[in-house]
Amino acid sequence: MLRISVFSCLSVLAFSYLSSAEETAHYSTKTPSRDGIGKVYMGREISQVVSQHAIGWLERRDREGEEKPSLVMGQLDLANDAVVADIGAGSGYFSFLLAPLVPEGKVVAVDIQQEMLDFIEGKKKLKQVSNIQTHLGTIEDTKLEAESVDLALMVDAYHEFSHPREMAESIVEGLKPGGRIIFLEYRGEDPGVPIKPLHKMTVKQVTREMVAVGMEFVEVRDFLPIQHFLVYQKPKLP
Ligand SMILES: C[S@@+](CC[C@H](N)C(=O)[O-])C[C@H]1O[C@@H](n2cnc3c(N)ncnc32)[C@H](O)[C@@H]1O
Repeated sequence: MLRISVFSCLSVLAFSYLSSAEETAHYSTKTPSRDGIGKVYMGREISQVVSQHAIGWLERRDREGEEKPSLVMGQLDLANDAVVADIGAGSGYFSFLLAPLVPEGKVVAVDIQQEMLDFIEGKKKLKQVSNIQTHLGTIEDTKLEAESVDLALMVDAYHEFSHPREMAESIVEGLKPGGRIIFLEYRGEDPGVPIKPLHKMTVKQVTREMVAVGMEFVEVRDFLPIQHFLVYQKPKLP
């Protein structure tokens, strides 16, 4: 229950994303829920974005105990020289766990909030980490080079992308053929997971959205206390 109150206290950016000209066939609108932006994609309302004021929460000491991110690192099957994009990197909590796994490769920490990237740059200097590259994307475009990424990791981020269709297409474009997308999302099927509904996702929903952009479902590994570990793959070239 502590988690609910901490999460409820997060400040959020109430971006006014919608304009009639912007609406596409992929989206519809509704009266915004308390934590939503009133924009609906494939049956789900998109949540508000966590602001830079949440850095303290993303970096909280008990995160390892609550979410077991170190177990995630053991499940990624990364080559030493892999390129990993941490999309919606926030404070870079996962980027800094990933960096030692790819000593001859790199982690591209992508976010739309410059304040988050500045925080990561500060932490890079402090920890003397050289294989994390901060990268400013837009709400619709990762701005990643085409076919440059082996793994796109999204931890607790995708559900708050204001333009999930465009972002998913952009991520797929940035992946090498055979490259993977791995999501960590709070389990939407489980009412016992004490997270607000718009900040959780179901396997069915993520899969529907990934298949729509040409990704193949690989597997769900449910070894984490409250999150799904979902794996999708970009088709290999024939
Ligand atoms: C809840 S935070 C999660 C941060 C990090 N993945 C973690 O688990 O510690 C979600 C992040 O996604 C970012 N974000 C939202 N929309 C985005 C987009 N279209 N492209 C990249 N990042 C985005 C937000 O700025 C925020 O930093």
